[in-house]
Amino acid sequence: MLALALPGFVHAGQVAQAASPDGRIVVQLELDGEGRLAYRVLRDGKPVVGDSRLGFIFRNGRQLLRGLQLENQATRRADETWEQPWGERRFVRDHHNELRASFVEKDHDRRRFDMVFRVFDDGVGFRYDVPAQPKLAEAQIVQELTEFAIARPATAWWIPAFEWNREEYLYHRTPLAEIGVAQTPITLRTDDGLHVSIHEAALVDYAGMNLMRGDSGALRAILTPGSGVAPVVRKTPFATPWRTIAISDRAGGLVESNLILNLNEPNKFGEVSWFKPHKYVGVWWSLHLGKQSWATGPTHGATTANTRRYIDFAAANGFRGVLVEGWNVGWDGDWFANGWDFDFRRPTADYDLQGLAKYAASKGVHLIGHHETGCAVSHYERQMDEAFALFVTLGIDAVKTGYVCDAGQIERQDLANGPVLREWHEGQWMSNHHLRVVQDAAKHRVAINAHEPIKDTGLRRTYPNWISREGARGQEFNAWGEPPNPPEHEVTLVYTRLLAGPMDYTPGVVSLTGKNGLEIQSTLARQLALYVALYSPIQMAADLPEHYEARPEAFQFIKDVAVDWDESRVLAGEVGEFVAIARKQRGGGEWFIGAINDRNARDLKLALDFLEAGKRYRAEVYRDGEGAGWKGESRFRFVRETREVTRADAMQLWLAGGGGAAVRLVPIGR
Ligand code: NOJ
Ligand code: CA
Repeated sequence: MLALALPGFVHAGQVAQAASPDGRIVVQLELDGEGRLAYRVLRDGKPVVGDSRLGFIFRNGRQLLRGLQLENQATRRADETWEQPWGERRFVRDHHNELRASFVEKDHDRRRFDMVFRVFDDGVGFRYDVPAQPKLAEAQIVQELTEFAIARPATAWWIPAFEWNREEYLYHRTPLAEIGVAQTPITLRTDDGLHVSIHEAALVDYAGMNLMRGDSGALRAILTPGSGVAPVVRKTPFATPWRTIAISDRAGGLVESNLILNLNEPNKFGEVSWFKPHKYVGVWWSLHLGKQSWATGPTHGATTANTRRYIDFAAANGFRGVLVEGWNVGWDGDWFANGWDFDFRRPTADYDLQGLAKYAASKGVHLIGHHETGCAVSHYERQMDEAFALFVTLGIDAVKTGYVCDAGQIERQDLANGPVLREWHEGQWMSNHHLRVVQDAAKHRVAINAHEPIKDTGLRRTYPNWISREGARGQEFNAWGEPPNPPEHEVTLVYTRLLAGPMDYTPGVVSLTGKNGLEIQSTLARQLALYVALYSPIQMAADLPEHYEARPEAFQFIKDVAVDWDESRVLAGEVGEFVAIARKQRGGGEWFIGAINDRNARDLKLALDFLEAGKRYRAEVYRDGEGAGWKGESRFRFVRETREVTRADAMQLWLAGGGGAAVRLVPIGR
């Protein structure tokens, strides 16, 4: 029996099928002569993902792979629109067709599972849904046999998995056939121009999925290990995270896709208006420059006097937040190695926690808390509830967490004095840890921004206090990186890492200079454009106050730019080359455009047809000046100019190599 059968697509062995609402994407399930299950994905009748295996290898039982038969299938249509409390757009349409196909082993243990596919106009999500059953009461999953057999030659943008620096790598751009072991999201462009992103949604109580190229050329899931008997141990019933395949003709279509959010559960916290998207400054860049230190002593950054200076600066310039790192006990000595020394309740002697909170409040500023765990994660969990409770008394309602250690070196200790086990940042235990943190923080009305995090899989929909995270090579590499981020990096991030969700990249280093005079490979205008190009509901103005004071013209954009949006659109772009994004300020009529570029100068012509009809706008344009480029003094060539435009206009912008443009569009006479 075929569901939503389309003539002409039926293969021998095909047992089930579903199509997207617009009919262009079709998923087919097939059983071969040995009862092995595969799926494939077609678009406009041609395979994008060819026959790809599904199944599991267990530690506590035979593999679940052969001898399967279809027992049942059902389809369901969904079309609903939901609202994001904050985000890159306010309303999200979830329009898909779902196929649930139930499989059972013909003999042996008659173990069973459902495959659930949701087919959207812009891609596919699928998961295994394993019911409770006597012969599979607990699944010790050694590997998930899920494959993605990309059916066309393609170029891939990817970062390696299982390397020591976690997610903080420059992206490789290689032929599909040269992918090694990659993390997701991974982005592909087929030679015939289709854009594909493979990732996952709703990574809950499960290990993160990586991809390894198998002998057949197909990409195969490889689960992040853990300290237990298998990467994933689950009692039935359970469902795996969704495996996602976003598909678009345009590179920007991947960025605009809501597939991952739609596959997550709705908001579990209800009202979260206590979280206010905001911009922040902080004692941070000076630490990475080595001008100040996390450790106490003569160069300690988190002193009362220095923090007051940042509070004053924030208040004077309209920033809500001031991040202070190094405020608590535990940073002295080799903090990388001594996470167990951190105390998240005790400030250093030279940091007047209570007094500073009062001072900040008197100026309408909120301190942002910092919890660097140094990967002593159980140690942190024992303190976090008290630590959040303390912060709340101080008006601190956002906390940056951190998990600095090499991959696989997270320290877990279930019982005080018990053995210390090693976990991976993206393993099952950490997927649960992060949810323990966001759930506990939510009780206290605290929002979380995790660095060295687990990958983003859209859980901000379910837990909307999980506001941002790092999880890629951020601006910090421009302070001390070897090398610093090249011009291609951020134009790749938009189409790779950022497809997973918001990133705390910490833009806005207008001095364009790292440690020891290191040249940041960016023009000045590009630093401004990053606020629009790289979405996050919190955005840092990362540079030192004195550097902003020296460049008031550029700083004006950082002060003006919005952080919460009604709508976001990609106006133009290609993976790893350039992007121009327009976003409409939430609760206001202004639009902002951010365009960033690789190392090759280019001209853009952007239609402004997204502007409201009948309105005139003042366009405040911050762009690369003549002769600007990503090296030397040319990086500072910069022009700020004003034009008047309507939706009938197109905006011509020249982007320097390593350059960018930032535009604020203000309705006139509103
Ligand atoms: C790494 C984070 O990415 C960075 O932002 C932070 O300053 C340090 N860890 C210290 O926690
Ligand atoms: Ca980091």
